[in-house]
Amino acid sequence: MSPSHLFRLKFHPVMGVGELKLLLWILSVLSLVLISLGFVPKDNYLIDCGSSTSTTVMNHVFVADNSQYLKTQRNIMASTSNSITSIIASPLYQTARIFNGTASYNFPISNQGRHWIRLYFFPFQYQEYNMSMAIFSVTAQNFVLLGNFNPRNGSMFKEYSLPVTSDNLVLSFTPAEHSFAFLNALEVVSVPDTLITDNAQTVNPLGAFQGLLMNEALQTVWRVNMGGPLVTTLNDTLGRTWVADQNFIVNQNLAQSVTGSVNYVQGGPTRDIAPDTVYGTATEMNSSNAPNPNFNMTWKFNVDAGFQHLIRFHFCDIVSTALNNLYFNVYVNSWVVAQDLDLSLVTVNTLAAPYYMDFVLGSSNRTILSVSVGPSTTVTSVSPNAILNGLEIMKMSDSKGSLDGEAFISPHGSKKKVGLIVGVVLGVIAVVFLGTILFFILHRSRRLAHDHPSKSNGRNAHSTVSKFSNGTITSATSELALRFAFVALQEATNNFDESLVIGVGGFGKVYKGVLKDETTVAVKRANPLSKQGLMEFQTEIEMLSQFRHRHLVSLIGYCDEQNEMILVYEYMENGTLKNHLYGQNLPSLSWKQRLEICIGSAKGLHYLHTGSVKAIIHRDVKSANILLDENLKAKVADFGLSKAGPEIDQTHVSTAVKGSFGYLDPEYFKRQQLTEKSDVYSFGVVLLEVFCARPVIDPSLPREKVNLAEWAMQWQKRGELEQIIDPNLAGKIRPDSLRKFAETAEKCLAEYGVDRPTMGNVLFNLEYALQLQDTTTQDETDENSTNQIGELSPMVNHISNEETSLIAEHLESSQVDDFSGVSMSKVFSQLVKAEGR
Ligand SMILES: *[C@@H]1O[C@H](CO)[C@@H](O)[C@H](O)[C@H]1NC(C)=O
Ligand SMILES: *[C@@H]1O[C@H](CO)[C@@H](O)[C@H](O)[C@H]1NC(C)=O
Repeated sequence: MSPSHLFRLKFHPVMGVGELKLLLWILSVLSLVLISLGFVPKDNYLIDCGSSTSTTVMNHVFVADNSQYLKTQRNIMASTSNSITSIIASPLYQTARIFNGTASYNFPISNQGRHWIRLYFFPFQYQEYNMSMAIFSVTAQNFVLLGNFNPRNGSMFKEYSLPVTSDNLVLSFTPAEHSFAFLNALEVVSVPDTLITDNAQTVNPLGAFQGLLMNEALQTVWRVNMGGPLVTTLNDTLGRTWVADQNFIVNQNLAQSVTGSVNYVQGGPTRDIAPDTVYGTATEMNSSNAPNPNFNMTWKFNVDAGFQHLIRFHFCDIVSTALNNLYFNVYVNSWVVAQDLDLSLVTVNTLAAPYYMDFVLGSSNRTILSVSVGPSTTVTSVSPNAILNGLEIMKMSDSKGSLDGEAFISPHGSKKKVGLIVGVVLGVIAVVFLGTILFFILHRSRRLAHDHPSKSNGRNAHSTVSKFSNGTITSATSELALRFAFVALQEATNNFDESLVIGVGGFGKVYKGVLKDETTVAVKRANPLSKQGLMEFQTEIEMLSQFRHRHLVSLIGYCDEQNEMILVYEYMENGTLKNHLYGQNLPSLSWKQRLEICIGSAKGLHYLHTGSVKAIIHRDVKSANILLDENLKAKVADFGLSKAGPEIDQTHVSTAVKGSFGYLDPEYFKRQQLTEKSDVYSFGVVLLEVFCARPVIDPSLPREKVNLAEWAMQWQKRGELEQIIDPNLAGKIRPDSLRKFAETAEKCLAEYGVDRPTMGNVLFNLEYALQLQDTTTQDETDENSTNQIGELSPMVNHISNEETSLIAEHLESSQVDDFSGVSMSKVFSQLVKAEGR
């Protein structure tokens, strides 16, 4: 029996097709319901301080203040009978809690990660306490939220979002000497992990922000809905408030409001990033009042000097009636941050699709921050216009972890933070493991449905049906991967020590861990969810168990004790290919290393496409999904989310195209038909990324350069791709190797799938490019060699197309051998053991 037969017998399906379909249907309905409900915060504390009854404000119930979370003796419940009108949150301001000494609230945190902290202050007189005279500081975790604070001026609302890294959030109030502190209402609420990620650019000069946004405490300074109304907590899935922009715009006469409907696209921003009312309204240029249509619209905001600010621009082209009809520039202060921005381009040809950009503005002594948008001066074929839909300005904590100078008493030690930083440095790495968004369930489920009939034989399908209907689903998965005891994983990760977190995502957190046998592993721990989460979890185990290959990141085991859903993967020491190419200042990879990485990942994909009866399509091939082990060997990750089904459900959003902007196969986009060749296209983009070492979409570049694939293909068509090579490689590649590589990338990017090579073919060509480079490695350091880039050798050994496909076919037919080479001795024996139990 061939190894692959053996393998398939062992990993028989867990359920029958009929049951599966029913289940998937239920699952789909469930997930649609969940999607429409939006984000449900795990931790959700809303307290009306000083009140003995609950208060409802805009559908949010602030519970009575029963001191349950309060750790202090010296406090007083205060109330006023003066009615406070014309303030949205007025009922909350009728009562307050007064603290006569240091006091703290202590909230158990069930889901670590970013949390909102919202504080409501409204000073009034209560007995001898004149609250407008109070001076105090507020700290949380290791961050100073307010230092030397005197809430003198009417109602004040403060919103922060903090990375919470323990099971407990301590919020402390410290009065100044002879003074006291007070608070009228309080919120501590989970934030979705997808809201703040590490993808910001610096403003001057433009470049990747090297800090760790994920780790920063942020204070909302301004959150503005351009061209639209006030958006209250009622109309925002995350309970945020967005104010209108009239008070900020510099010249009202030059601007007008516009409204349209928003086309939320999968893979793009969701309603949690900003709601319909924000993306569906904009301020655009009003040229009728201007003699010269070439002007900027500018908004000005007060900010605190001495702090960095995170600026998030929200765009959605609701003004154009056709694609590529709007080109504008975006400025922060007087620096250009995006030139000739074409939203059609960055949203990959979807009109009215939301898009946002994050920038970090360094600290300065300026207290005015201005942002402007104005028409492109270089693209003159379209009528001049510019838009802005929304803007958020967030103050970032300084190096001391403060958002507001010094607190009266420094709260806690700061050791923990250092640990966290180290964790996160490692971390950007494994964000790759995540991205298990609710949307995927549908796709993956369907894949299962399509995949199984071809693999199951009647007997197996039948016996597992009853297993399933008996409700003992969990036992079925034990045949697929090693089942870990929870304590073993607790031990491996030092009880899920925050300093070992190497990635955070929608699904949960990924920890680096060391098993008893000293294997280093990546431990992905899901937020305990419903039955639906459980299904997803089992699907992932099953999918990952079926596809094992030395160039696919493998699943080592799982744990489902105590409602936990934990997946254990092999640990990839060197993180993502993307990080090695740009943005992280890692040492530059040599051409040979890059080729070997491309070859490795091509092997992984080739196996996915051909390693089972029905081709498995990855669907999200990108440099961030290619991981590197300690020897820089490449492995493809996240293929558990891929699918084998040929079509996308038409009952779903019609624009439901999954994948990442910049890598998407244009044909898939047009026809919504998925084939292996969609992966080939995306892989072609990765090849260009490897060659040029720049992001696939970079809106800060001049228009023609924004989309890497488009830009590079223009150079390649002229036969001059080497002109845009990563400067670190210049002069170090043999011309024939370069040519082979460039041709391969070009073929991958053919407009129609049928014209693109198979992965096997790509693999062959890359190996050939490596050989061409290898033969002359000894010359590599010879700077005087005339045979370098720019002078293509006429002697290039050109292999004919037929020859190529012959060898490629051979490769494909030999995939069983390839499979037998899978380094699974350890994992596999564990699997077999697990099954035998
Ligand atoms: C806000 O939500 C309410 C109720 O859901 C709706 O009636 C109203 O039109 C929304 N307002 C805006 C500005 O979208
Ligand atoms: C728009 O503002 C930027 C930055 O302040 C400035 O450089 C540019 O000249 C302005 N454009 C126009 C047309 O005023």
